[in-house]
Amino acid sequence: MLSGRGSNFKAILDNIKNGFLKAQIVCVVSDKQCAGLEIAKQNNIQTIFLDPKGLTRKDYAKKLIDNILPYEPDLIVLAGFMRILDDSFVDTFEGKILNIHPSLLPLFKGLHPQKQAIEAGVKISGATVHFVTNELDSGPIIIQGAVSVHENDTPESLADRILKVEHKIYSMAIKFIIESKVTYIKTPQGSKAQFK
Ligand code: GRF
Repeated sequence: MLSGRGSNFKAILDNIKNGFLKAQIVCVVSDKQCAGLEIAKQNNIQTIFLDPKGLTRKDYAKKLIDNILPYEPDLIVLAGFMRILDDSFVDTFEGKILNIHPSLLPLFKGLHPQKQAIEAGVKISGATVHFVTNELDSGPIIIQGAVSVHENDTPESLADRILKVEHKIYSMAIKFIIESKVTYIKTPQGSKAQFK
């Protein structure tokens, strides 16, 4: 699922093509007519554009669920899907939804994490792949990658450096899951990522 340029989607697709990932992308879902959808079409991958206009978060979730369920996905990969998902969506696909966030979570959740990192004065930032739960950017962490924050960094230059790491770690996280090296487990406190 994506909303924008689709560079993470493209990196995952490249890793399927080169054999790193034994996976198949059965469909790309977007809430926007965007570059990511065009990449999918060029690669003969099915696309679904679901316009959220005029719909409540709950009704949009129903539309997403109704369109995605027939595919019986093993994984739902959020790759720059810029919309908060309703609990009903997360509950329907619990343990199967992954997200990537361009910060070292739990730091700098939400919007503009690279700007938040610069303003906080941290010297290291990065990206996190995690299972999605009902709390924003808070699900069990699968993998993180770190980069230096430079003295003269702008949010854009830091975002570019982090993006290179994103392109590596998202496929690694997916590989861990495919190979059952990490599993989503429900616990009395909520959930966790269980590593082998
Ligand atoms: C990435 O920085 C990702 O971490 C964030 O949205 C951006 C998507 O970029 N969630 P792209 O569309 O994959 O190029």
